[in-house]
Amino acid sequence: MAEASYTPRVFSGIQPSGNLHLGNYLGALKRFVDMQESDAQTIYCMVDLHAITVWQEPEKLRHATRELCAGFIAAGLDAKKSILFNQSQVAEHAQLAWIFNCVARMGWMKRMTQFKDKAGKNAENASLGLFGYPALMAADILVYHATHVPVGEDQKQHLELTRDIAMKFNHDYGVDFFPITEPVIEGAATRVMSLRDGSKKMSKSDPSDLSRINLTDDADTIAKKIRKAKTDPEPLPSEIDGLEARPEARNLVNIYAALADMSVEAVMADVGGRAFSEFKPMLADLAVAKLAPISDEMARLMRDVGEIDRILSQGADKARAIAAPILSQTYEIVGMVGAGVR
Ligand code: TYM
Repeated sequence: MAEASYTPRVFSGIQPSGNLHLGNYLGALKRFVDMQESDAQTIYCMVDLHAITVWQEPEKLRHATRELCAGFIAAGLDAKKSILFNQSQVAEHAQLAWIFNCVARMGWMKRMTQFKDKAGKNAENASLGLFGYPALMAADILVYHATHVPVGEDQKQHLELTRDIAMKFNHDYGVDFFPITEPVIEGAATRVMSLRDGSKKMSKSDPSDLSRINLTDDADTIAKKIRKAKTDPEPLPSEIDGLEARPEARNLVNIYAALADMSVEAVMADVGGRAFSEFKPMLADLAVAKLAPISDEMARLMRDVGEIDRILSQGADKARAIAAPILSQTYEIVGMVGAGVR
């Protein structure tokens, strides 16, 4: 049963709980596309079971799941190269999550900052699913024995918990079965901030639509949001160090670097010393050039929902073929009768 080495396999997921925004794109989706071209097998999931940890209107959830799939493909994911599917079609995620609910400790879960943020002051009224969210996330990853997980910085704590769960399972059952997954938090935009407040993360739950760029925004809207982005009165500094105490400026430079596939150093060499009145139009042109084709392609793909559903169902078949044997080995290790014949 012991298994010491794992083939490189990439897994990541995004919740279909609203519009994809620039933070999701630069922190996650764009990285998914980069990793698709590596030697590792890549598996990308629309995590609909996670989305319902807070209330979702059923029709909106269905639409958002299909639109997220359209966003994955429009951004450059290819169903022939990567496995693309929605989580609820592969029951093994929820089955392994139950086992992990019995491995993870209450104290670990209580420390999760995302739960505290999302549950807010009224934690008594949060769903049990929201509390258990990170155990399902660990199951998403480990049901494929995934070795690498590209995410934005806000998921770091959840990935540490995934490693803790894998280690405790391996230790408790005396096996070397689940890999200790590596988070892949890389690039210039692992934490894209709100365009209205450089101290807050760009997020789908911010009440101000001006705080984020949505992947469904048209060119005029993207340009307007960048024009209105909060800045300070100084021109851009000529050295990176000069961005330290200027969160809004730093955010816009990071966004530019990530969109242009340049290092922050190279961007500073180009734009250092310029006024925002000059830099913002450059950023707007770049953002429109990179994002408008994605939003056009998403709209085109959404005209054939049948094709999207076919892609998701075929992706789910491929995902299940990997997950099912790993789940049944897990059941076997845990001592469930009949596990071997599944
Ligand atoms: P979700 O849907 O909130 O976010 C999806 C991805 O987008 C990244 N992200 C950001 N990156 C940079 N700047 C931002 N402002 C920003 N906002 C969001 C997130 O870090 C994430 O990578 N729990 C996950 C979904 C999930 C998952 C998984 C991820 C479920 N199971 C297994 C990896 C592996 C989440 O909340 O995603």
